[in-house]
Amino acid sequence: MTDERLTDRCRPTRNRRFSAPLCPIALLLATCLVSSCSGNHSTLDPAGPEAAKVAQLFYVMLVGGAVIWIGLVSALIYSARKKHQHSEQTAGRVILWCGAIIPTVILCALLSYGMWLMPAIRPWVPDDQQVRRVEVTGEQFWWRVRYLDEAGSVVFETANEVRIPVGQPTHFSLKAADVIHSFWVPSLGGKMDMIPGRTNPLTLTADREGTYRGVCAEFCGESHALMAFTVRAVAPAEHEAWLAERRTSDPQDAEGLAVFLNNGCGACHAISGTAASGRIGPDLTAFGERGTLAAGTLPHTAEDIARFVAHPGRIKPGVKMPHFGMLPEHDIKKIAAFLKELR
Ligand code: CUA
Repeated sequence: MTDERLTDRCRPTRNRRFSAPLCPIALLLATCLVSSCSGNHSTLDPAGPEAAKVAQLFYVMLVGGAVIWIGLVSALIYSARKKHQHSEQTAGRVILWCGAIIPTVILCALLSYGMWLMPAIRPWVPDDQQVRRVEVTGEQFWWRVRYLDEAGSVVFETANEVRIPVGQPTHFSLKAADVIHSFWVPSLGGKMDMIPGRTNPLTLTADREGTYRGVCAEFCGESHALMAFTVRAVAPAEHEAWLAERRTSDPQDAEGLAVFLNNGCGACHAISGTAASGRIGPDLTAFGERGTLAAGTLPHTAEDIARFVAHPGRIKPGVKMPHFGMLPEHDIKKIAAFLKELR
């Protein structure tokens, strides 16, 4: 077979093979990209200045990467089509410029830009500035949240949900109780690792009200993917009122509380204003006002609370909470109803 016959036979086949599947693939990619651009859990839908800088960095990197890719692919196509017409010297120059010099210049520019932007992505908050302070500890597989006063003392504790005032920076002290976790609220800023024995600082600001989803961004065990939390950004006055109100609690359902205490739930969980003072599991004070259950795993309904109390390990593999499926069903339902209404 001559070279000409080979070329003639291959050319139409090659065009068919590469053009037909490209359209659906491109459509699928575009759909995936566009569908994940908005919402309360997207880096590309920033709700604060730090997240806006991260999004800006992404777009600049995307354009920079695209320029390198287009240059490289163009050079490849050029070489493939004209391989018999240009000299070795020209080929060498194309490789030198498109494969080394231009990418190096673009990558150096992108690196410099990223370094220059870094202080805005990780703002440093001076000690004397009036900021809200929250300590968050990653545990397998939930988040211990402690609100601190100006002196750094714990005012009260809660779990899996953080409230911050809109328009004011909140300074997070991030810790880990067991293994490495990572604190990430994509709509509000970059991620920060939580390392046992260390306290890592992170400052986030929300510039519009809303509920934003946060996740653990470091593999930490069986239920790593079931370790989410929410950040609620509310008006500063509303936030102040909530902080003042949350310092005390007064559970109304005395019968539900008795069932909760009699079954030993208070050994692991605390409810302020009651005899429940356990520190092992999440603090359940005002549990009824939370939006989700089991660190963002289930909706906050009485049925789901009962399901979780009966068999937590079926919903969250590796969870430390023992199962209570052996309790009479009416007791589980009473505990669920009590927690659902707990304010
Ligand atoms: Cu905690 Cu992954």
